[in-house]
Amino acid sequence: MTTKLSLGVLVSGNGSNLQAIIDNCSSGDLAANVSVVISDNPKAYALTLAKKAGIPAHVFLRKEYLTKTEFEEAIISALKKYDIQLVCLAGFMRILSPVFLNAFPKKIINIHPALLPAFPGLHAQKQALEAGADKSGCTVHFVDEGTDTGPIIIQKEVPILGNDTEESLSNRILAEEHVLYSRAIKLLAEGKLEIDGRSVVVRDFRRGK
Ligand code: GRF
Repeated sequence: MTTKLSLGVLVSGNGSNLQAIIDNCSSGDLAANVSVVISDNPKAYALTLAKKAGIPAHVFLRKEYLTKTEFEEAIISALKKYDIQLVCLAGFMRILSPVFLNAFPKKIINIHPALLPAFPGLHAQKQALEAGADKSGCTVHFVDEGTDTGPIIIQKEVPILGNDTEESLSNRILAEEHVLYSRAIKLLAEGKLEIDGRSVVVRDFRRGK
């Protein structure tokens, strides 16, 4: 029997990426298991999705901790209790400090709705439209101290259409995110990723568009 990679998913909002990961784990496409969901937002719909899937979910409110370090340490100890092997940020709206990063070295990944390094930060789809770009997409990357600056794992391009609105573009990118995030987790689960300085080497894998 192969052991499954134990995932901790951090969310703040809708949780559509969380749901896609859950679905790919249950279908057997992904040799992983979402062991815990953690949110900094008690109203996140992702918490409802976790509950429906029977996955333990915990809320940590930043305002209940004096410092960011204490807040992060509380989350770290929750993740450690579940023996998490990979932390997946899925719409988690906070920048992690070195305290958090050092607790899970090279084991924290994020998905961003643009082709990084273009359009990091908030409202990436709006940024792409306003820049007049003819394509954008999504990126899964390792997390470092910056905002969406960590080593890139895989990306998927999405064309921008003449009549696109922020909403229509976001929806098309999101559909690709749901596929891409699980592909990246699968590569990690199969031990096919190596970080080499600022780049990620993917073994036995063609970087397809
Ligand atoms: C996604 O667009 C993701 O790329 C970004 O936040 C959004 C989360 O969406 N980091 P959801 O909560 O997974 O639906």
